[in-house]
Amino acid sequence: MRTTQIPGTELKPSAICLGTGGMGSSIERDSAFAMLDAFLAQGGNFLDTAKVYADWLPIERSSSEKTIGRWMKARRNRSHVIVGTKGAHPDLATMHIPRLSPQEIAADVAASLEHLQTDYIDLYWLHRDDPARPVGEIIEALNAHTQAGRLRYIGCSNWRVERIRAAQEYAAVHRLQGFCGDQMLWSLAVVNPGGLADKTLVAMDAGLHAYHQASGMAAIPYSSQANGLFNKMAAGKLAEMPPQYRLAENEKRMARIRRLAADSGLTVTQVSLGYLMAQPFTTIPIVGCRNMEQLTDSLSAGEVALTPEQVRFLETGLD
Ligand SMILES: NC(=O)c1ccc[n+]([C@@H]2O[C@H](COP(=O)([O-])OP(=O)(O)OC[C@H]3O[C@@H](n4cnc5c(N)ncnc54)[C@H](OP(=O)(O)O)[C@@H]3O)[C@@H](O)[C@H]2O)c1
Repeated sequence: MRTTQIPGTELKPSAICLGTGGMGSSIERDSAFAMLDAFLAQGGNFLDTAKVYADWLPIERSSSEKTIGRWMKARRNRSHVIVGTKGAHPDLATMHIPRLSPQEIAADVAASLEHLQTDYIDLYWLHRDDPARPVGEIIEALNAHTQAGRLRYIGCSNWRVERIRAAQEYAAVHRLQGFCGDQMLWSLAVVNPGGLADKTLVAMDAGLHAYHQASGMAAIPYSSQANGLFNKMAAGKLAEMPPQYRLAENEKRMARIRRLAADSGLTVTQVSLGYLMAQPFTTIPIVGCRNMEQLTDSLSAGEVALTPEQVRFLETGLD
């Protein structure tokens, strides 16, 4: 798999990031270790986890972070892995109450370090925003941790473009570290935001895309395979199509994927992940794979390089 560089950092992640939300829960420990081993063996080095994964289940808290920590300890490979984790997520019972005070951020950073059995986090994401809190306070709080060496780089997830711009401006003016990347919901599929159960998720839109293009800030999209939408459509498993993607536009996109795949010899997975990796700014899709077969298939996109014309065709149908 190709590697890339996140602009403004020394991080050289693999072209595809492995989402580990289910590791230690829906994917039990031995299978999780085997998938993590396979990811590394195929050139992967960039992991995505979060303190809140998978606390919606009645199992041990932070099972994903703890599984990654146990795996890195067992394999003695901490320095080979770029660990991205997220904190400052609301409590699950009170999703409308943000948790971004300096004290809450500090408590979450400390907990994640302990779960991951490490003394530094390569990329620390704020899992949500608190639009009522000044960006300066948040940037200052994070910089206390970068300066102490607990966090190497910082990013935001599910932030609106105006807030990202304000945070980046504050960091620049005060000569502090700003966000090196942004995690948003994004794939080749068009999403109906009204169909998302969690209203605090932020999807890619034209304004955010333009900001990334102008600033060069990296995008690290999640749900990058639209929960397997196009593979499910291709296999005729229409009953399994996630409701938020059941749109006529996605049927058109499926037809374009089929045509591009037939012309290029690429698979459905390679076309849909290739679409993200061919954006005019650094874009590293996070893939969520339930088993080894899906992992191997998703990683097969790691060398794909679509042209701008192919990207335009997938979006518009224009040759
Ligand atoms: N920042 C955030 O707020 C946020 C939010 C959500 C997720 N994330 C991160 O992003 C990761 C991935 O999110 P996601 O699970 O929504 O991503 P996704 O890759 O769009 O969806 C994963 C699902 O797609 C299907 N799939 C994956 N690979 C496939 C393949 N090669 N062929 C056919 N189907 C395939 C599987 O569905 P089936 O199980 O139905 O087969 C799988 O469970 C998470 O683990 C987490 O790390 C971040």
